[in-house]
Amino acid sequence: MPATVIVGVQWGDEGKAKVLDALAAETDIVVRYQGGSNAGHTVVVGTERYAFHLVPSGILHDQKVCVIANGCVVEPEALMREIDALAVRCVKISGDNLLLSDRAHLVMPYHRIVDQLGEKLKESSGQTKIGTTGRGIGPCYVDKVARSGLRVIDLLRPDYFIERVKSRVAELNPLIVNVYQGDALDANKIADEVLAFAPRLKPFIADTAAYINDALANGKRLLLEGAQGSLLDVDHGTYPYVTSSNATAGGSCTGSGISPRKITLALGVVKAYTTRVGSGPFPTELSDSVGEGLQNRGAEFGTTTGRKRRCGWFDAVGVRYAVDVSGIDALALTKLDVLTSEKEIKVCTAYEINGVKTTRFPADPERIANAKPIYESHPGWSEPIDDVRSFDKLPANAQSYVRWLEKLSGTKIRYVGVGRARDAMIEIK
Ligand code: GDP
Ligand code: IMO
Ligand code: MG
Repeated sequence: MPATVIVGVQWGDEGKAKVLDALAAETDIVVRYQGGSNAGHTVVVGTERYAFHLVPSGILHDQKVCVIANGCVVEPEALMREIDALAVRCVKISGDNLLLSDRAHLVMPYHRIVDQLGEKLKESSGQTKIGTTGRGIGPCYVDKVARSGLRVIDLLRPDYFIERVKSRVAELNPLIVNVYQGDALDANKIADEVLAFAPRLKPFIADTAAYINDALANGKRLLLEGAQGSLLDVDHGTYPYVTSSNATAGGSCTGSGISPRKITLALGVVKAYTTRVGSGPFPTELSDSVGEGLQNRGAEFGTTTGRKRRCGWFDAVGVRYAVDVSGIDALALTKLDVLTSEKEIKVCTAYEINGVKTTRFPADPERIANAKPIYESHPGWSEPIDDVRSFDKLPANAQSYVRWLEKLSGTKIRYVGVGRARDAMIEIK
């Protein structure tokens, strides 16, 4: 009963969905276990491009059951919009192939409002904003941990739901009006708007932990789809410039309700360089024409917000740290093709912080911001590699770059992405 967890080991957007899509044929169930519609997961099938936010990308494969598990935060309207948009493109979704955990927390309209107004206030008062996606993710997880949240199951208890919304709105209105200078919220209106989605969501609602554990006991194969990346993890990332959930492998157990002993493979996904969206330290960031080149060739725009992704060289310090924290067994290296035509490829192998060399990823974001990357160089290649499908057909310098990253990250690279297309991936046997 193999259960593979797919984890981003940088700051998100590593190409997790494409890797998952390539492995989906070998699985029965795909489970999304944390985050919400802050995620943007792209799969390119022929000329069609699909961008998933909450629905696991495994839904493109017939005969698979997809699960949005308890660790996720779900905005009913956003989920229904995504399901409807997929239906228009002939992706059939019903309670037979999509299950929504009754224990997942609901992103309420006031979570979005608090997220956006909070960021605005930070900006206007001269503080550094987080640069969130504005999807209400942080405030929703705040309510979950403060035990003030509403869960999917509560949609089926309207009286309780309305009372809880009233009490939360009564708490939030002084903050919204007096601190954020926003408009007071109408609890009844909010409750009605959200409850209106209950009949449409009802067919999907299930005890997903029970479903997954039964399936594992019956020999079904599982792919656990992580969102965001390890360096955005609320515990292990570049706090406070992080998201509000556990994007590291551990999150897949709490977020889906399975034992750590059930995970048979932790597959890390890593870009051949680095990107980051939003604020926060990024030692290898390139603010020059090389960074611009990566941004253009890699089409590095956020899938969810359309923001330009910040680009830089591969950071082996950050990757090694993320590999340790998640116990990564193997890596999928994506976007190697984007480095084609780069004469000299640099990789950060250590940081120099206040004159001291270190290979440890610091906890203090200021120390990370002050870290001077110590680079080593690798010669590039000029031949396009998009159509290459076996490792030994890659240009010699591309092969040795992959082997070098393997050494630096202390982890075997099992897959290499060479293009956006679904099949543009090499398996290294
Ligand atoms: P995710 O959030 O980790 O699933 O990644 P995103 O979908 O947000 O961003 C990755 C982007 O890179 C998407 O546009 C993918 O289509 C694209 N992509 C994935 N793998 C490769 C690759 O090997 N080469 C190229 N050129 N593009 C890739
Ligand atoms: P996928 O799954 C890249 C970033 C935001 C911001 C920080 C907090 O596509 O890899 P949030 O809205 O979560 O409170 O924002 O996290 N962020 C992502 N960056 N990829 C993502 O998801 C992200 N989800 C959130 O830009 O810096
Ligand atoms: Mg993404």
